[in-house]
Amino acid sequence: MRDTITITDDRTGKTVTVPIEGGVFSSSALRELDPSLFMYDPAFMSTAACKSEITYLDGGAGILRYRGYPIEQLAEHSTYLEVAYLLLHGDLPSTDQLATWRNDVTHHTFIHENMRKRFVDGFHYDAHPMGMFISSIAALGTFYDGAKNIQNEASRRKQILRLIAKTPTLAAMAYRFSIGQPFNYPDNDLSYPANFLNMMWKVGPHYEVDPALERAMEVLFILHADHEQNCGTTAMRVVGSSHVDPYSSAAAAAAALYGPRHGGANEAVVRMLSEIGSIENVPAFVESVKAGDGRLMGFGHRVYKNYDPRATIIKKAAYDVFDVTGKNPLLDIALALEDVALKDPYFIDRKLYPNVDFYSGLIYQALGFPVDMFTVLFAIPRTVGWLAHWQELLADPDQKISRPRQWYSGPGERSYVAIADR
Ligand code: CMC
Repeated sequence: MRDTITITDDRTGKTVTVPIEGGVFSSSALRELDPSLFMYDPAFMSTAACKSEITYLDGGAGILRYRGYPIEQLAEHSTYLEVAYLLLHGDLPSTDQLATWRNDVTHHTFIHENMRKRFVDGFHYDAHPMGMFISSIAALGTFYDGAKNIQNEASRRKQILRLIAKTPTLAAMAYRFSIGQPFNYPDNDLSYPANFLNMMWKVGPHYEVDPALERAMEVLFILHADHEQNCGTTAMRVVGSSHVDPYSSAAAAAAALYGPRHGGANEAVVRMLSEIGSIENVPAFVESVKAGDGRLMGFGHRVYKNYDPRATIIKKAAYDVFDVTGKNPLLDIALALEDVALKDPYFIDRKLYPNVDFYSGLIYQALGFPVDMFTVLFAIPRTVGWLAHWQELLADPDQKISRPRQWYSGPGERSYVAIADR
């Protein structure tokens, strides 16, 4: 068997044969046949817009690896900062590299006082924290002269450190503002997740972070760190391809993440489970979804046609958290819903399985986070994924400014008609 594909343009009889590498062939073959020929591929269902060495995903087999390392091993043994280093640098750090990396990130956690006093204070009291987070990331870029200097490696590294270090600070600030409580400054003696929990929850002079909850947060951060070319990461790449500063690109990526079909789904899952209210209502709810009345949130995925491996890890982590916090009462409804859906031909035929968002919201809720914060909790760790892809994009000689073609379907030329004659 030859690893090639031959395409014939039946209008002209012209033929072109191109190699297939790793299941992919270059669309430039079409241009060889006819430079005005394009493929119609809404939502990029069968288009790879880049080569990437960062994350491997096999949706049919339920495999997810960062830089070759299985997500299960990273969730069990690693820390978020180590994974962040891995995603950005390609390899796990040595002891010294990790110490330097941790030190560098830790020393960028503070934000300019004007961000808090002027910018955040300008939001309406009930502003959604994710809306605040998106705008704060964009605003942050205005504080750094070098932000636009994206061709300079040292400057790029500085912005990457700042974004990874400051997103938990921005997130906690949005939350504290929303409940009218004073902001807690970062504590650089704490781990990345413990510092975040401390900024969120400390009320008096002391707040002890429970090690089990700190580890659960760490695992959630690891699981959400990257997921190759999803909607948010694609937004990061498309916007970044214009060579704007990384803060503006990351704000665009965060905006994409906010939607209920993407990172907003974890919020939607908890709202859905609360609306279902009790196990007896589960069958009727599933029937209503099958009848086309909304979707089963937290189910289905563009790429996974099998159980999302992150959902398996999160389901287990949920029990570790519930051992400390007590069981989330919505868990039983979630389990019943999963059970009914996984036996139902509608979901089986469409290969709809629980995704990362199905159980994450239950943990977040048990940890005390309000539903409005859920997508922010996804955005904090995903920031490093966006940045790893941004960095890869800038170094890729194949990349140019993103500019898809369109299939024009509007009217042909027509003459302007004066308003009185229409
Ligand atoms: N509940 C009920 N039916 C569904 C669902 C669902 N959650 N997801 C897909 N379907 C049906 C859909 O109606 C369609 O049926 P038919 O062929 O009869 O028209 C079929 O399954 C294929 O769906 P699709 O919309 O073509 O699939 P997609 O790949 O475009 O969408 C998705 C993927 C994640 C947007 C979708 O499954 C969905 O809306 N899920 C619920 C939202 C959710 O949980 N999102 C989180 C995704 S994971 C984290 C992240 O990426 O941020």
